[in-house]
Amino acid sequence: MSWFNVDKKGLAKLMEGRSKSFVLCELLQNAWDEATSRVDVTVAPVEGSRSVQITVEDDNPEGFQDITHAYTLFAESVKKSDAEKRGRFNMGEKLVLALAKRAYIETTKGTVEFNEHGRVESRCKRDAGSVVSVEIPMTRAEMNEVIDAAYRVIVPHSVRTFVNGQEIPCRKAVTEFECTLPTLVSNEEGVLKPTTRKTLVRIHEPVSDETPMLYEMGIPVVETGDKYHVDVQQKVPLNMDRDNVPSAYLRAIRVAVLNATYDKITKDDAATTWVKEACSDERAAPEAVKKAITERFGANAVAYDPSDPEANKRAMADGRPVIYGGNLSGDEWRNARKAGVLPPAGEVTPSPKPYADGGRPVNVIPESEWTPGMRRVVAFAKDVAREILGCDVNVQIAREFGWNYNATYGDRELTFNLMRVGHKFFDNGISDEVIDLVIHEYGHHYSNDHLSREYYDALTMLGAKMTRLALTKPELFR
Ligand SMILES: Nc1ncnc2c1ncn2[C@@H]1O[C@H](COP(=O)(O)OP(=O)(O)OP(=O)(O)O)[C@@H](O)[C@H]1O
Ligand SMILES: [Mg+2]
Repeated sequence: MSWFNVDKKGLAKLMEGRSKSFVLCELLQNAWDEATSRVDVTVAPVEGSRSVQITVEDDNPEGFQDITHAYTLFAESVKKSDAEKRGRFNMGEKLVLALAKRAYIETTKGTVEFNEHGRVESRCKRDAGSVVSVEIPMTRAEMNEVIDAAYRVIVPHSVRTFVNGQEIPCRKAVTEFECTLPTLVSNEEGVLKPTTRKTLVRIHEPVSDETPMLYEMGIPVVETGDKYHVDVQQKVPLNMDRDNVPSAYLRAIRVAVLNATYDKITKDDAATTWVKEACSDERAAPEAVKKAITERFGANAVAYDPSDPEANKRAMADGRPVIYGGNLSGDEWRNARKAGVLPPAGEVTPSPKPYADGGRPVNVIPESEWTPGMRRVVAFAKDVAREILGCDVNVQIAREFGWNYNATYGDRELTFNLMRVGHKFFDNGISDEVIDLVIHEYGHHYSNDHLSREYYDALTMLGAKMTRLALTKPELFR
């Protein structure tokens, strides 16, 4: 005596919320799982009733291996051990039967009929192929959903598939690639075990208004909303409702798809969830991350550099997008660094740092070697400092070949660089050039950052003080 009874009505009610398109998917799935070269589906209203007859016929020579599986829930599906077959639960066809008022299954081993009185088996056999036919109460709208579902499948290359006499067109893949993905295969005891396995993955462009979906060998599983339909050519780790996968699986798919299609990523794609998720993953190829980040932010973008505030402003002034910490997740930043994109602004547009390596001017010219012009300019700089900065400044002249600067200022020390300004600078008295450079350097008394408000406020303030000084003590300028 068996432990369980199944309440058909109760089971049907559990299916209530689902789209009737699952009926077509389950029956197609079973036909495609066999050595079939042609499948014919008919979907037609039943005259004088509110039911629809759905029939799926295939030409698999052997037909059903065991006809009792047609009505035994959770019998051991022979397909469990084969990663390239879709069936595993031995449940799908029974869920379809649960919805039916009447049904029949004709096979090479015999025929089973289901009607209001129950199940009747007969010895009537087909020579080849199987027919599964179900009469299910449904509305016209639901019937159309079933027919539409037929056009959403991705027909395997080896099986021509027809719906109401019309062939479902084969879809041409944008690309296909091999990769290792989680799957399920039964062990010797018939227990389905998670494992990983190399498989072919086909990428298709969605047609018209289709939402991109994940497919298991041509049968739609779940809408992803990503860029492409992704058709995995082996068992996908499905829930029992066959309408979802674990989020870790979807992530693995997204990484694999990005790695295989990054050359087709556009700026819009680059900001979508699936690309961002793939770019956060350790398995993302550096060149894929590079392409996605470059599309998203621009080829000349730099990372905000807190260690060099002026460098960020210099980058912006150069028209480079400056990307802040919060624009990317921590994992995306890690991958971006690995891929060599988004270098810190301090590396690309560094602020001037004459004293960067703890350096000081080395080749300082001793006072004894100063020319009269040098003495004059140095005296001016010192006098002016006292007047407009309100402090004494040590002024020196150096020969620094390595410096790209005319002068530097820091810690109340001003250094003119003879290698840049040249002797003429000192020989022309208190020229505009001298006043200009002194104001520029003394601005650094207030801020090192050329592009900061502090700095430019200081410059105008020093300009004002310098003017006042020229009026009150013109002799300093002669
Ligand atoms: N068209 C068919 N040709 C041959 N055998 C079939 C066909 N349809 C169903 N079967 C057999 O009936 C069994 C029951 O099908 P059912 O869809 O319930 O389970 P399954 O495909 O094994 O697993 P799943 O529940 O995951 O779909 C199948 O395992 C298969 O052996
Ligand atoms: Mg099945």
